[in-house]
Amino acid sequence: MSRQADSPTGNRLDPWIDSYAARTRGLTASSVRALFAVASRPEVVSLAGGMPFVSALPVDAMADTVARVIRDRGAVALQYGSGQGDVTLREQILDVMKPVGISAHADDIVITAGSQLALDLVVRVFCDPGDVVLAEAPTYITALGVFSSYQCEVEHVAMDAEGLSPNALRETIAAIKAQGKRAKILYTIPSFHNPAGVTQSQERRTEILQIAQSEGILVLEDDPYGLLGFDGTVPQAIRAQDGEGVIYLGTFSKTIAAGLRVGWAVAPHGVREKLVLANETATLCPSNFAQLTISDYLQTQPWLEQVEVFRGLYRTRRDALLESLATMMPSGTRWTVPSGGFYSWVTLPGGLDAGAMLPRAVSALVAYVPGTGFFADGQGRESLRLSYCYPEPDRIREGVRRLAAVVKAESEIAATFGSPRAAVERDGLGAPTPDLA
Ligand SMILES: Cc1ncc(COP(=O)(O)O)c(C=O)c1O
Repeated sequence: MSRQADSPTGNRLDPWIDSYAARTRGLTASSVRALFAVASRPEVVSLAGGMPFVSALPVDAMADTVARVIRDRGAVALQYGSGQGDVTLREQILDVMKPVGISAHADDIVITAGSQLALDLVVRVFCDPGDVVLAEAPTYITALGVFSSYQCEVEHVAMDAEGLSPNALRETIAAIKAQGKRAKILYTIPSFHNPAGVTQSQERRTEILQIAQSEGILVLEDDPYGLLGFDGTVPQAIRAQDGEGVIYLGTFSKTIAAGLRVGWAVAPHGVREKLVLANETATLCPSNFAQLTISDYLQTQPWLEQVEVFRGLYRTRRDALLESLATMMPSGTRWTVPSGGFYSWVTLPGGLDAGAMLPRAVSALVAYVPGTGFFADGQGRESLRLSYCYPEPDRIREGVRRLAAVVKAESEIAATFGSPRAAVERDGLGAPTPDLA
């Protein structure tokens, strides 16, 4: 086949357009990506990205760690390593997981290039095209990207202020069965959810696990934020209750350094073997340099004290966000109140469309992520995700002030000319009601 620019099967921009595998259909650049290029300009307050505030790390200690790793263990750090990951780091990860209640064996752990790769490998190992994956409504955008690239069908399960609803889970499973299908995986982010900002209670975790067990559904528990609870309490992982029916994903991205790309999966024995083989296929091995750097940092630094610093920092930013939302947003706006993590989920008043509003928000020098990206099925038009992890508190306040002005202007236009739903709600100041509807 010709690949000339004027090929009848291609087009001038991409002569290979007709050659891509079907699984790439979901790999489309989102329409908001171009706007985010603008949003990264310094004058824009970005409440969009979920970047950890790595500037709070002890830079000198990190520099010493990196120097030590290269100087003392360079021949290992700069070499290929094991497909399962460094055994010393796997043992240290056992300690890192103690606060979430997981007791495992170093052999149960597979280290990957970020937990994102672990997520990809699990889906690669379990899902054929057309397999059904259950996921919260809304869910983590890049998990949707993985499900789509393996051609899974995503069925969303409703949430409320306590996270994934067990009743909704039962109903969704029943509806899937009624269609003659079976759900294979339940993907859940139980603690400090991205993007919803809510946390499953312990009772819920137990109930959700029991439902999954009785239906033979594998639970894929994604827990990047578990240690970042603002009152210092650490929710107990679902994996702490079941070593066979749950795969747990952890990461150092939010507690140490996202740039080192070190995450892990804890999996039952048979699954673990498949994940190691899949890991080798994807990357040969996780980076020895990154693993030894994390390992040295854990060994030589008071890393839990540093997590405490991050908790305090993100709590201050969360407070700045919630106070500004309460004082500035127009009535009828609702948002969740996160008790940890990076995000709050905001629902706009009067049926406003967060995607349609984004260009006006960026013109007003504030950015957020519109809600529809967090769903596989087009829900979420009235919602958006705000993240408070990166900007300083004063910038957060300024960002909300700009956003509130845009929402008010949009509401007035909608009230005058009509909106997709009823006109603007006008009952009192927007209260911080945890609500994901
Ligand atoms: C819910 C969730 N899962 C996984 C990841 C990926 O983390 P990592 O940096 O370990 O790949 C993120 C990152 O933001 C996340 O929010």
